[in-house]
Amino acid sequence: MFCYNRNNRSCGLFFNLFLLKEIKSNIDTKAQAFISKTEEYRNLLNDFYSKLNATTRRDNSPSVIKHTERGKLLARKRINLLIDEQTPFLELSSLAAFRQYENQFPSAGIVTGIGVIHGLETMIVANDATVKGGTYIKETVKKHIRAQEIALQNNLPCVYLVDSGGIYLPEQASIFADRFNFGRIFNNQAVLSANGIPQISVVMGSCTAGGAYVPAMSDETIIVKNQGTIFIGGPPLVKAATGEDVSAEELGGAFVHTGISGVADHLAENEIEAIRKCREIFESFQSPDRQKLNRIEVEEPKHPISELYGIAPIDLKKPIDPKELLLRIVDGSKLNEFKAEYGRTIHTSFANIEGFPVGIIANNGFLTTEASLKAAHFIELCNFRKIPILFLQNITGFIVGKKYEHEGIARAGAKLIHAVATASVPKITIVIGGSYGAGNYAMAGRAFDPNFLFMWPNAKIGVMGGEKAAGVLESINSSTDGKSLVQQFEDESSAYYSTSRIWDDGIIDPVDTRKIVALAISVSLNKQFEEPKTGIYRM
Ligand code: COA
Repeated sequence: MFCYNRNNRSCGLFFNLFLLKEIKSNIDTKAQAFISKTEEYRNLLNDFYSKLNATTRRDNSPSVIKHTERGKLLARKRINLLIDEQTPFLELSSLAAFRQYENQFPSAGIVTGIGVIHGLETMIVANDATVKGGTYIKETVKKHIRAQEIALQNNLPCVYLVDSGGIYLPEQASIFADRFNFGRIFNNQAVLSANGIPQISVVMGSCTAGGAYVPAMSDETIIVKNQGTIFIGGPPLVKAATGEDVSAEELGGAFVHTGISGVADHLAENEIEAIRKCREIFESFQSPDRQKLNRIEVEEPKHPISELYGIAPIDLKKPIDPKELLLRIVDGSKLNEFKAEYGRTIHTSFANIEGFPVGIIANNGFLTTEASLKAAHFIELCNFRKIPILFLQNITGFIVGKKYEHEGIARAGAKLIHAVATASVPKITIVIGGSYGAGNYAMAGRAFDPNFLFMWPNAKIGVMGGEKAAGVLESINSSTDGKSLVQQFEDESSAYYSTSRIWDDGIIDPVDTRKIVALAISVSLNKQFEEPKTGIYRM
């Protein structure tokens, strides 16, 4: 299990312990319809796991064989050795760059995620040198920067396991010069360090050109003998520029940087020793001043979490009761519902997940004026009570029509969006069904900086559904080819399309939701929650 700060564990009473009520399920799990739906979901999951395995386990690929024959460890193995034994690694965006670049960049050539080192939750960023020499395409940069953003938002030390040829040159125009391009990585290292967040590099292979600044800008750097190299210009460039003939080791190897240049601080005989040294460095770190959150004894849900497969919305046209999902996710299947009878198209409740208190906002239909105001009110409660918020997105959008426009749905929606944007407690978003239109914004979509955003494999995301978009466009322009537009929208709204472009932090199996939300809350406690602060709510 993840290493939670034991001081946060309270055996005492949580404020709403008596208000939490066990929710009964209305679903007959023996019914044929439920069994068929479960079967359908399992097929969808098989497809997910086969994509994931093909991406993360490539033992027979020539570049992996070449890498291991050189005596080098694979990126995920390095991480495995770095983190504390018997602790999980929460890998992020494993399917980044999926179905792009002819699938030549599995996981975008970089592994990122959160693991525990000497009891400290840590962001780990590891280049995968078996993917085009660990070079960076747009998604690699985005994934690296996203990892640093998570580290900043949650106050996590960073370890960079470096093994990269720098920018993938054919793609340089899309990753070199812009604001959130390659240079941002080094900017972020300085900003993180200035915020007191440790930056440690372990150089296990190449660190070329701009990439040289990853170790050079770290607080402490370890380099592996006869394996790690750091240089601004490699031997071929030096030869071309100056005519000088020099080997990689002579130009920027471990002895050069630990003995002559001082660019690295510690020499390691091999990768295992480098990892050990990295763990030793962690011994000198202070524990973070964690946010207090009254954690109570963990109680498993009363219904098997795997029953989520029979409920998860595959067909978004069929409504589902969010309580049926929640009673399979929250502790003891107990909720303390807020405004249960009002604005019923949104569900708001307090509950516990693996003992952590959480405020839950889950869709139960269109967003209406009442539902928006109810959710905005609930966010205020969570803010002032300092309770993290879990958003379960399954939303086709705000309700439309003359009646609703006249009653000012946009004004009510704006209040909710304002409350989401300014919430000062951690936000965790899981897209469990649809994430369409402004509903995405109102439910803490990516633009609203949730601490984490994950998707279920059945999830769909887009400005609107394909059929609706085709209808809208056909009414504007009669020459629109509706059929191909529906197909385009269908392709672009899949969870795989989203995760490939890092619009989320990864696709997760529904049965892992409870565990992952608990990890996310634990991670968010590394930083004190800010005091509530909002702007002007339009009345
Ligand atoms: N841009 C584009 N492609 C690159 C690349 C780069 N910067 N660096 C490596 N590659 C490609 C290679 O062409 C090769 O592609 P292939 O599998 O289709 O043949 C693949 O990555 C692996 O490279 P290879 O040289 O065979 O592997 P290696 O493990 O022996 O060496 C490097 C890896 C990174 C040390 C070496 O390729 C290198 O020095 N690259 C140039 C680095 C550089 O100058 N970068 C400056 C850009 S900022």
